[in-house]
Amino acid sequence: MAGYIPPHFIDELLTRVDIVDVIDGRVALRKAGREYTACCPFHNEKTPSFTVSREKQFYHCFGCGVHGSAIGFLMEYEHMDFVEAVEELAGAIGLEVPRETGSAAPSADRGNQDLYEVLEKAVDYYRHQLRQHPQAGQAQDYLKGRGLSGEIAADFELGFAPPGWDNLTSALGVKAERLLAAGMLIRKDNGDHHDRFRERIMFPIRDRRGRVIGFGGRVMAGDVKPKYLNSPETPVFHKSSELYGLYQARKAVRKLERLLVVEGYMDVVSLAQFGVRNVVATLGTATTAEHLQRLFRVVPQVVFCFDGDRAGREAAWRALENALPVLSEGRRIRFMFLPDGEDPDSLVRKEGQAGFEQRLENASPFSHYFFEALSSRVDLGSIDGRAQLVEQARPLLKKLPQGVFRHMMATQLAEIARLDAAALADLTGVPRPRTGSVRPAPVAGTSPVRRAIRLLLQRPQLAEGLTELDALRGLELPGVPLLQAMIDLLRAHPHLSCGAILEHWRGQDEGRHLAHLARLPVDVPDEGLAVEFSDVMSHIASLHDEQAVDRLLAKSRLGDLSDEEKHQLKQSLAAKSGSGA
Ligand code: GTP
Ligand code: MN
Repeated sequence: MAGYIPPHFIDELLTRVDIVDVIDGRVALRKAGREYTACCPFHNEKTPSFTVSREKQFYHCFGCGVHGSAIGFLMEYEHMDFVEAVEELAGAIGLEVPRETGSAAPSADRGNQDLYEVLEKAVDYYRHQLRQHPQAGQAQDYLKGRGLSGEIAADFELGFAPPGWDNLTSALGVKAERLLAAGMLIRKDNGDHHDRFRERIMFPIRDRRGRVIGFGGRVMAGDVKPKYLNSPETPVFHKSSELYGLYQARKAVRKLERLLVVEGYMDVVSLAQFGVRNVVATLGTATTAEHLQRLFRVVPQVVFCFDGDRAGREAAWRALENALPVLSEGRRIRFMFLPDGEDPDSLVRKEGQAGFEQRLENASPFSHYFFEALSSRVDLGSIDGRAQLVEQARPLLKKLPQGVFRHMMATQLAEIARLDAAALADLTGVPRPRTGSVRPAPVAGTSPVRRAIRLLLQRPQLAEGLTELDALRGLELPGVPLLQAMIDLLRAHPHLSCGAILEHWRGQDEGRHLAHLARLPVDVPDEGLAVEFSDVMSHIASLHDEQAVDRLLAKSRLGDLSDEEKHQLKQSLAAKSGSGA
């Protein structure tokens, strides 16, 4: 990588490209008023809730909440990283991406690049050992014994970590520091280090874009513990959000409709060998909301596969709870339970692809499993039991995003528990579901600072005419530093769009906050924006005066006022009572 992209170039780039062109080339947009709409490319829907604003240079889906600038869109849609997205946009309009070398700029990307390279070398090394190492026979026999074909082993790039404590540093020609950072070595107390993976079958883990981020390693002998060893957390490997097999599934199936989530590495590989290719595994952890977000970016439907035993049922219920907040319109999850003592690997070997896929077809829909599991805990024949059911279901249903699905679930609960309409309305959170897109409720009691920020995001040029700047300095209210920073930015670069402003806070809390505000429609007609903004800023200025008076009053109680401050206080109080009269 050639160096750091200067921020002013991002500004320029986002001024020159048009997000409407960028997205329209990939998703057919339709003009609807001042905005453009389409069915959201990031979730499955029948009525369009994906909108693109040329004015704001910002896209947003009311259904699933995705949003961002043209850069953000490419990152999501094309699975590019930031630099790739910038290069793509620049290339499309014939701009060369400038690089600043030797700057102290964030080097996370460069650092990670280095980790990916090291890990890629390790993949090659382990694969080579599976063919060439003097003890490779043992590993090959193990894989054969598990019924894996050479072809599928190659497909999943399985490898062999040979015995020995110091293979990697010598074989890869890579400094120990880099291997440590990549999680491939373990540092000992005396500062020395040794190979993490020894005498194991190696499963490389690739992220959805195909970069190696870590490994799982399985022992070959029955009694060695732990049976599976994973890479530790590193800057590129996060166990709780990564999924084994996602990259391979996307590669194998052109248009994935659904993904099956299983428990084990072997299950993924073995199902793939039998032709069930749309399978991923968590890495020895429970299914998290992050996993689900990641899956729903790829497919609208996720099927969980669990053991039929008690532990499996508990894991399924945990997955269900984690899934509630991400089950927005168009997303579906289902549950599949295996016969006792079987896992997907053993089952597909017995029943073959067709048998396994038949089970998949019969998986329980979310609502079945939800009510079945809850009902099994109570006595539906009694009023008490039905009340318990409602009490248990209520907090869970409230975690579902508001919308048609939540309404349907609540309706079903009402039927099972024989609830009346008022109790039902409380459960759905809205009296009636809206048809079409589901818009978030407007924020009540918006503070003037948030309002000013929203207006600036709507029309950044408002910052130019500002005369109330001093009002902000020293004002102690949440959001003021951000508003101040935005105004400073816009005074220096008056032509930034909303999308370009957001890029200045990419990856930071402020950026998320701004994006949230940018998504809320401003309920003021165009002609009224300037007046509204000036009113809001005056309001903020008056808050500033009040805070100044409060401070002076507090100080005067301590008898600490200078003559000048006494004068100020007198004037302010006089002005206040004058205006209040
Ligand atoms: P096989 O025994 O090879 O068929 O693997 P499996 O996938 O059937 O294994 P199992 O059901 O025992 O475990 C499922 C998953 O849990 C594995 O793929 C691992 O991700 C994880 N796992 C199992 N045992 C261990 C362990 O000892 N340590 C860690 N960290 N993870 C484990
Ligand atoms: Mn197994």
